[in-house]
Amino acid sequence: MKLLAVDHPLVSHKLTVLRDQQTDSPTFRRLTEELVTLLAYEATREIRVAPRRVQTPVAEAEGVYLSLPRPLVVPILRAGLGMLEGMTRLMPSAEVGFVGMVRNEETLQPTTYAERLPDDLSGRQCYVLDPMLATGGTLAATVRFLVARGADHITCICLLAAPEGLQRMEQLLDDLHVPCTVVVAGVDERLNEKGYIVPGLGDAGDRLYGVV
Ligand code: URA
Repeated sequence: MKLLAVDHPLVSHKLTVLRDQQTDSPTFRRLTEELVTLLAYEATREIRVAPRRVQTPVAEAEGVYLSLPRPLVVPILRAGLGMLEGMTRLMPSAEVGFVGMVRNEETLQPTTYAERLPDDLSGRQCYVLDPMLATGGTLAATVRFLVARGADHITCICLLAAPEGLQRMEQLLDDLHVPCTVVVAGVDERLNEKGYIVPGLGDAGDRLYGVV
């Protein structure tokens, strides 16, 4: 697994406003989208393209188009939904699939409670959206799920990660023979006893959508 922490003053500025508990939901939603668009620019550096010749008003030019099959964007419900618009703005031709994960209280393993994805992901580059990489269990389970369906290139985009979550992802995906990159706007200090990232930004789902 490769970690890419995006170091850019605009990213740091927007992240700081997101962290601020005074930031209201509408602003939080807008800034999340803007931040994801900036992260997406870095996260798509390895997106596959194929050569394409076009006719300009002046002459023929050699360029590229995004390759087929189309990339797949996968927000993890619920908070990942807040990142979707920011991602598809940059990559409007991407397809979108959805995954909902919940932790089974007996086995403590994340299990899928909702899923809308193509059956066959062979040859697909997948972009998984999950704002907070806390314990890493849900994100790792989603990556495994996509690889089991045939995805061969995975990029996870998160606003913040905890060192514990990154380490757990490494362990859980150790045997995966598929390139996996995690792109983040910041890596924070630690997780607290309730599983929140410290200093973090609180519950991303609640801040996006309210406590429901
Ligand atoms: N999920 C969140 O929304 N926030 C955290 O700090 C950890 C997990």
